[in-house]
Amino acid sequence: MADWRKCMLLLPLVVLINTASGTRVQKLIYFDVTGTSACFRRFNGTHQIGCTSDLTGNVGVVHYIENKSDLDWVLEAGPHQPYALLMEPEHFNRTNVIAIKQSGKVNGIMVINKENSTLPSSFHFSPDQSCPNNVNGLYDKNSQYADCSNVTWNTAGNGLMFMDFGMPIFSVQNETEIDYIIHKCFAAFNKPINGTPREHPLCAAQLKDFMTGAKDSHTCLSRTKRIININPETYCDPLGDQNVYGLLKPVSNNESLPQKSIIMATARLDSFGLFEAQYAELESPVVSFITLLAAAEAIGRVKQDIVEDKNAKDIMFTFFQGESLDYIGSGRMVYDIETGVFPQNKDKYGIHVMNFSHIAHFVEVGQVGLAEGGAYYLHSDPVSQRDGQLAKEVTKLKINFQEAVASMNITNLTIEGTAVPQPLPPASFQSFLKKANISGVVLADHEREFKNRFYNSRLDTLKGQGMDWPSDRPENFNTTIQLSRDIQILATALARSLYIMATNSTQNISRINAALDEV
Ligand SMILES: *[C@@H]1O[C@H](CO)[C@@H](O)[C@H](O)[C@H]1NC(C)=O
Ligand SMILES: *[C@@H]1O[C@H](CO)[C@@H](O)[C@H](O)[C@H]1NC(C)=O
Ligand SMILES: *[C@@H]1O[C@H](CO)[C@@H](O)[C@H](O)[C@H]1NC(C)=O
Ligand SMILES: *[C@@H]1O[C@H](CO)[C@@H](O)[C@H](O)[C@H]1NC(C)=O
Ligand SMILES: *[C@@H]1O[C@H](CO)[C@@H](O)[C@H](O)[C@H]1NC(C)=O
Ligand SMILES: *[C@@H]1O[C@H](CO)[C@@H](O)[C@H](O)[C@H]1NC(C)=O
Ligand SMILES: *[C@@H]1O[C@H](CO)[C@@H](O)[C@H](O)[C@H]1NC(C)=O
Ligand SMILES: *[C@@H]1O[C@H](CO)[C@@H](O)[C@H](O)[C@H]1NC(C)=O
Ligand SMILES: *[C@@H]1O[C@H](CO)[C@@H](O)[C@H](O)[C@H]1NC(C)=O
Ligand SMILES: *[C@@H]1O[C@H](CO)[C@@H](O)[C@H](O)[C@H]1NC(C)=O
Ligand SMILES: *[C@@H]1O[C@H](CO)[C@@H](O)[C@H](O)[C@H]1NC(C)=O
Ligand SMILES: *[C@@H]1O[C@H](CO)[C@@H](O)[C@H](O)[C@H]1NC(C)=O
Repeated sequence: MADWRKCMLLLPLVVLINTASGTRVQKLIYFDVTGTSACFRRFNGTHQIGCTSDLTGNVGVVHYIENKSDLDWVLEAGPHQPYALLMEPEHFNRTNVIAIKQSGKVNGIMVINKENSTLPSSFHFSPDQSCPNNVNGLYDKNSQYADCSNVTWNTAGNGLMFMDFGMPIFSVQNETEIDYIIHKCFAAFNKPINGTPREHPLCAAQLKDFMTGAKDSHTCLSRTKRIININPETYCDPLGDQNVYGLLKPVSNNESLPQKSIIMATARLDSFGLFEAQYAELESPVVSFITLLAAAEAIGRVKQDIVEDKNAKDIMFTFFQGESLDYIGSGRMVYDIETGVFPQNKDKYGIHVMNFSHIAHFVEVGQVGLAEGGAYYLHSDPVSQRDGQLAKEVTKLKINFQEAVASMNITNLTIEGTAVPQPLPPASFQSFLKKANISGVVLADHEREFKNRFYNSRLDTLKGQGMDWPSDRPENFNTTIQLSRDIQILATALARSLYIMATNSTQNISRINAALDEV
């Protein structure tokens, strides 16, 4: 398992206006920029990535990058290095960041991130890899499918999340402050006139987010252990959280738990972003886990059918944490199952220990927020399906979905397998398939590459995805938008499919309906 660490807190960013000519320290007017969040330093087992400033902060001459020619000017002609760049979001991409880093002329970056700005529909930004979770996935060593050679899932992925920038980078949000930096600082003192650079005094920014950690997670953690007695403040934090799961009819440990008697219905709970506390997460994962929660609620209303039918399979609703970084949530559950200690508190509650042979099927809700015309896809793993029996079971699951859709009598909803056999998209299911052949499907709105242009980024918001609340939204948030209706329809289909899988019966399934209120 990979070892991810993050370190320390951020400190505020300050813009200095130097009104005196010559020395920097005389008569500085300080202006605190408060609406910011920092990119911070992180570690894995072998590397340090992310951002940090010098101990006292990095000071650079402010230059506003409104279009590409502004950046070219700084890198080629600008005489006042080091610079601190204020960048429009569309210029903050991998190509430019690498050029900036290699130039050695830039000391820090501020990326504009206005709350209500509309980005052009061609704009895409995902700091994750173009092949997310590649190294810890199922196909890492597969000659046919490794490195997304068959499908590049996240075409927008630029991998910035995993770069070591070697300078502080902030997102700046407050429009008043952005205007201030552009007009009162850049335009007033620094903006070249007809390409000719300005002379002193110049306006500078001090970007300060010094992070103490160093080298790799092992080094950072052992230093934390040494320091903790002297200074209670943490030097390095390990990433961690809790998976959440529940069974409809847990079997006690004095009874027998039949083979293939549990259907896992799963979604992920996490996402990440380059900047602290900007984890918008709409399509990945919020829509996914709301869909699963709404389906669970609908099943809950008819759960007696499943609980009282001795032959019915159980459904284990499961929400994984930490999947975006090397599948740490599903990886942990798989590890516990393998070592015979799952569920963790089985003794306290007298629940039967579970192993892979008890899992009948795996149904994962992937990214489902951006379906076009109600078209959804069921992804399955081609490698395990070389086993004919498993392939039959997967076909059966797809038929179960089609039975559910048929029962709904809606013309604009389709849930179908992919046109050609292809590897699974990034999914918790991969963690399980690494250890055991289990029949399962991943439900998604994309057949091949992601529809989401902002996967694991600050821009995966309702507005960023071209949807929004009506302007007359009531105070109590009780508002329905098209997305809520789409989720309700999909959750109904999902709940009915799970019910058919559990009971092997399509009778009376039309009474199972996800409630819009729950969505
Ligand atoms: C860049 O922006 C400036 C305005 O700040 C404008 O005058 C100039 O034409 C733009 N250049 C390009 C190539 O769009
Ligand atoms: C990065 O942004 C520049 C504009 O600043 C654009 O010309 C270039 O195509 C972008 N690169 C990528 C890989 O999107
Ligand atoms: C963004 O828009 C919402 C309503 O559409 C408004 O309440 C909010 O104040 C706006 N934020 C800014 C920074 O303008
Ligand atoms: C992906 O693999 C499938 C077979 O599993 C094959 O039919 C398809 O042509 C492959 N696509 C690419 C782009 O390699
Ligand atoms: C850590 O991250 C670096 C940079 O992304 C990568 O090259 C390296 O393989 C990663 N190491 C591990 C153990 O995941
Ligand atoms: C934006 O910044 C200004 C000036 O610092 C401040 O007065 C205002 O409260 C800030 N707005 C928000 C929404 O934080
Ligand atoms: C198993 O134990 C529970 C209480 O712990 C008891 O109610 C139940 O009857 C027992 N079942 C069997 C088969 O012994
Ligand atoms: C899984 O549990 C069953 C009993 O429920 C047992 O027969 C089987 O040996 C176990 N398998 C492993 C790999 O522990
Ligand atoms: C499909 O049609 C139903 C009405 O039958 C409507 O409520 C729903 O919004 C439509 N969904 C899509 C994705 O067009
Ligand atoms: C399906 O819907 C159509 C109109 O949308 C209706 O005429 C038909 O009776 C419905 N069928 C069932 C079985 O509910
Ligand atoms: C939300 O509004 C609908 C009517 O628009 C109403 O039926 C429902 O009870 C309301 N729910 C809540 C929680 O207020
Ligand atoms: C499911 O039901 C069908 C008949 O409707 C039956 O042929 C089949 O054997 C059943 N499958 C299981 C696993 O009980």
